[in-house]
Amino acid sequence: MLTDAEKQVLIHKAHLAQELAYSPYSKYAVGAALLTRGGDIYTGCNVENAVFPLTLCAERVAVFKAVSDGKMDFNAIAVVTRNGGTPCGSCRQVLREFGQDIIILVANEKEELSLETTLGELLPHSFGPEDVAS
Ligand code: THU
Repeated sequence: MLTDAEKQVLIHKAHLAQELAYSPYSKYAVGAALLTRGGDIYTGCNVENAVFPLTLCAERVAVFKAVSDGKMDFNAIAVVTRNGGTPCGSCRQVLREFGQDIIILVANEKEELSLETTLGELLPHSFGPEDVAS
Protein backbone atom coordinates (compact mmCIF):
# COMPACT_ATOMS: atom_id res chain seq x y z
CA MET A 1 0.00 0.00 0.00
CA LEU A 2 1.16 3.49 -0.82
CA THR A 3 0.00 6.66 0.87
CA ASP A 4 -1.49 9.41 -1.27
CA ALA A 5 1.66 11.45 -0.65
CA GLU A 6 3.88 8.58 -1.83
CA LYS A 7 1.76 8.20 -4.95
CA GLN A 8 2.05 11.91 -5.73
CA VAL A 9 5.84 11.83 -5.31
CA LEU A 10 6.08 8.90 -7.73
CA ILE A 11 3.77 10.57 -10.24
CA HIS A 12 5.76 13.80 -9.97
CA LYS A 13 9.03 11.94 -10.66
CA ALA A 14 7.40 10.27 -13.66
CA HIS A 15 6.29 13.67 -14.90
CA LEU A 16 9.84 15.05 -14.59
CA ALA A 17 11.07 12.00 -16.53
CA GLN A 18 8.44 12.60 -19.20
CA GLU A 19 10.02 16.00 -19.86
CA LEU A 20 13.21 14.17 -20.85
CA ALA A 21 11.47 11.96 -23.40
CA TYR A 22 13.18 11.68 -26.77
CA SER A 23 10.13 11.29 -28.99
CA PRO A 24 10.63 13.39 -32.15
CA TYR A 25 8.74 10.91 -34.35
CA SER A 26 5.59 10.13 -32.40
CA LYS A 27 5.66 13.33 -30.34
CA TYR A 28 4.13 11.19 -27.61
CA ALA A 29 6.22 11.72 -24.48
CA VAL A 30 6.11 9.12 -21.73
CA GLY A 31 7.69 9.19 -18.29
CA ALA A 32 7.92 6.43 -15.72
CA ALA A 33 9.05 6.21 -12.12
CA LEU A 34 9.62 2.80 -10.59
CA LEU A 35 9.64 2.39 -6.81
CA THR A 36 11.59 -0.52 -5.31
CA ARG A 37 10.57 -2.15 -2.04
CA GLY A 38 13.76 -0.69 -0.60
CA GLY A 39 12.49 2.82 -1.36
CA ASP A 40 14.68 3.63 -4.36
CA ILE A 41 13.10 5.29 -7.40
CA TYR A 42 14.31 4.65 -10.94
CA THR A 43 12.96 6.85 -13.71
CA GLY A 44 12.71 6.34 -17.44
CA CYS A 45 11.48 8.07 -20.57
CA ASN A 46 10.77 6.76 -24.04
CA VAL A 47 13.74 6.89 -26.36
CA GLU A 48 12.84 6.79 -30.04
CA ASN A 49 15.08 6.11 -33.01
CA ALA A 50 15.11 6.89 -36.71
CA VAL A 51 14.88 3.12 -37.11
CA PHE A 52 11.44 3.12 -35.52
CA PRO A 53 11.33 -0.42 -34.07
CA LEU A 54 14.40 0.33 -31.94
CA THR A 55 12.33 2.65 -29.77
CA LEU A 56 12.34 1.79 -26.10
CA CYS A 57 9.38 2.59 -23.87
CA ALA A 58 9.71 4.63 -20.69
CA GLU A 59 8.64 1.78 -18.43
CA ARG A 60 11.25 -0.60 -19.78
CA VAL A 61 13.98 2.01 -19.49
CA ALA A 62 13.10 2.36 -15.80
CA VAL A 63 13.00 -1.42 -15.26
CA PHE A 64 16.30 -2.00 -17.03
CA LYS A 65 17.97 0.81 -15.10
CA ALA A 66 16.83 -0.75 -11.84
CA VAL A 67 17.77 -4.32 -12.72
CA SER A 68 21.16 -3.24 -14.00
CA ASP A 69 21.64 -1.55 -10.62
CA GLY A 70 20.87 -4.80 -8.82
CA LYS A 71 17.26 -3.96 -7.88
CA MET A 72 14.38 -6.18 -8.97
CA ASP A 73 11.95 -6.10 -6.07
CA PHE A 74 9.36 -3.59 -7.22
CA ASN A 75 6.54 -2.01 -5.30
CA ALA A 76 4.98 0.36 -7.84
CA ILE A 77 5.43 2.19 -11.11
CA ALA A 78 3.91 5.51 -12.11
CA VAL A 79 3.47 6.36 -15.78
CA VAL A 80 2.74 9.88 -17.07
CA THR A 81 1.51 10.74 -20.56
CA ARG A 82 -0.52 13.64 -21.93
CA ASN A 83 -3.69 11.55 -21.93
CA GLY A 84 -3.25 8.90 -19.27
CA GLY A 85 -2.19 6.13 -21.63
CA THR A 86 -1.58 2.76 -19.98
CA PRO A 87 1.58 0.63 -20.32
CA CYS A 88 1.85 -1.28 -23.59
CA GLY A 89 1.74 -5.06 -23.76
CA SER A 90 5.51 -5.42 -24.03
CA CYS A 91 6.07 -3.32 -20.91
CA ARG A 92 3.40 -5.29 -19.05
CA GLN A 93 5.24 -8.52 -19.87
CA VAL A 94 8.61 -7.09 -18.82
CA LEU A 95 7.13 -5.92 -15.50
CA ARG A 96 5.41 -9.31 -15.09
CA GLU A 97 8.83 -10.92 -14.83
CA PHE A 98 9.24 -9.22 -11.46
CA GLY A 99 5.80 -9.75 -9.93
CA GLN A 100 2.08 -9.61 -10.44
CA ASP A 101 1.34 -7.41 -7.45
CA ILE A 102 3.29 -4.39 -8.67
CA ILE A 103 1.05 -1.33 -8.33
CA ILE A 104 0.50 0.60 -11.56
CA LEU A 105 -0.31 4.31 -11.29
CA VAL A 106 -1.40 6.00 -14.52
CA ALA A 107 -1.52 9.79 -14.60
CA ASN A 108 -1.65 12.74 -16.96
CA GLU A 109 0.57 15.81 -17.24
CA LYS A 110 -1.45 17.56 -14.57
CA GLU A 111 -0.25 14.76 -12.29
CA GLU A 112 -3.83 13.57 -11.91
CA LEU A 113 -4.15 9.85 -11.20
CA SER A 114 -6.55 8.31 -13.72
CA LEU A 115 -6.01 4.62 -13.01
CA GLU A 116 -4.62 2.66 -10.09
CA THR A 117 -4.34 -1.06 -10.67
CA THR A 118 -1.90 -3.95 -10.46
CA LEU A 119 0.20 -5.70 -13.03
CA GLY A 120 -1.86 -8.85 -12.50
CA GLU A 121 -5.02 -6.96 -13.42
CA LEU A 122 -3.41 -5.40 -16.49
CA LEU A 123 -2.02 -8.72 -17.69
CA PRO A 124 -4.26 -11.58 -16.52
CA HIS A 125 -3.47 -15.27 -17.11
CA SER A 126 0.08 -14.27 -17.92
CA PHE A 127 3.16 -16.32 -18.64
CA GLY A 128 6.02 -15.86 -16.22
CA PRO A 129 9.22 -17.26 -14.76
CA GLU A 130 7.35 -20.00 -12.88
CA ASP A 131 6.10 -21.42 -16.17
CA VAL A 132 9.60 -21.75 -17.56
CA ALA A 133 10.79 -23.42 -14.37
CA SER A 134 8.06 -26.06 -14.21
N1 THU B 1 5.44 4.31 -25.26
C1 THU B 1 5.97 4.17 -24.01
O1 THU B 1 7.01 4.75 -23.70
N2 THU B 1 5.33 3.36 -23.13
C2 THU B 1 4.19 2.69 -23.39
O2 THU B 1 3.76 1.88 -22.57
C3 THU B 1 3.45 2.97 -24.62
C4 THU B 1 4.22 3.64 -25.70
C5 THU B 1 6.12 5.16 -26.23
C6 THU B 1 6.74 4.43 -27.37
C7 THU B 1 6.78 5.51 -28.44
O3 THU B 1 7.96 6.29 -28.25
C8 THU B 1 5.57 6.38 -28.13
O4 THU B 1 5.20 6.07 -26.80
C9 THU B 1 4.38 6.15 -29.06
O5 THU B 1 4.06 4.81 -29.14
